[in-house]
Amino acid sequence: MLQVWRRLTTILFIGDVVARPGRRVVRDLLPGLRDELGLDFVVANGENAAGGIGITPKEADELFRAGVDVITLGNHTYRHREVWPYLDTQPNILRPANFLPTQPGRGTTVVERDGASLGVVNLSGNLFMQAGSPALVTIDEALREVAEADLVLVDMHAEATSEKVALGWHLDGRVTAVVGTHTHVPTADARVLPGGTAYITDVGMTGARGGVIGVRREQSIAVMRSHMPQRYDAADEDPWLNAVVIRAHGRRADAIEQILRPGSAP
Ligand SMILES: [Fe+2]
Ligand SMILES: [Fe+2]
Repeated sequence: MLQVWRRLTTILFIGDVVARPGRRVVRDLLPGLRDELGLDFVVANGENAAGGIGITPKEADELFRAGVDVITLGNHTYRHREVWPYLDTQPNILRPANFLPTQPGRGTTVVERDGASLGVVNLSGNLFMQAGSPALVTIDEALREVAEADLVLVDMHAEATSEKVALGWHLDGRVTAVVGTHTHVPTADARVLPGGTAYITDVGMTGARGGVIGVRREQSIAVMRSHMPQRYDAADEDPWLNAVVIRAHGRRADAIEQILRPGSAP
């Protein structure tokens, strides 16, 4: 009997890395997690890496040096002008594929390690977000760009849970994983869908849990109580890693598990 041998591949996806405390958690924990979990690929959402909003080449290079293979982004992609040309020249940092074609950067990439290839697609939701085209339409074209990859991971950066759940079902059996980002709060619905796609509505945030989704809590509370603008700084109290590990044979996922761990003190 002919048996097709498919190797086990393990992917770590890290939720929105927020400011210096989030970057430090990645630097501190990733080497140990690589050994503990036997990681082949690491993907991180970096849209909050620079001071809590956006990213510059400096923070992107720092994440790559820490062992991240691909960085995905979201609604804060273009906050810092200096990253615009970098998005065109560095192939492994992605902005949502359904942004306008005229906007800098690309929405898909394929990376290889030890004979296995991972295609990554970044998408933006459409509800309460400014994206050029519907995520659930653009995804068909984006998947053609990564069709040759052994595994495919999609980061759906969206506010609405409904859009993320819908994308998960739409792609079930076609990709290895659909992971949601943007809300900075991990959801309790990680599972492998019947067709073999690992799914979670939101991975959460890698940053300071002592703030309000990454902002110093007293500043956020003051704005909500006064309805007056005020400066926002990144929180640094109680940083945590929020991530998921996905194990797959071929393109089909076997398991998805949340990795929620305290980082070191700031
Ligand atoms: Fe974010
Ligand atoms: Fe976001």
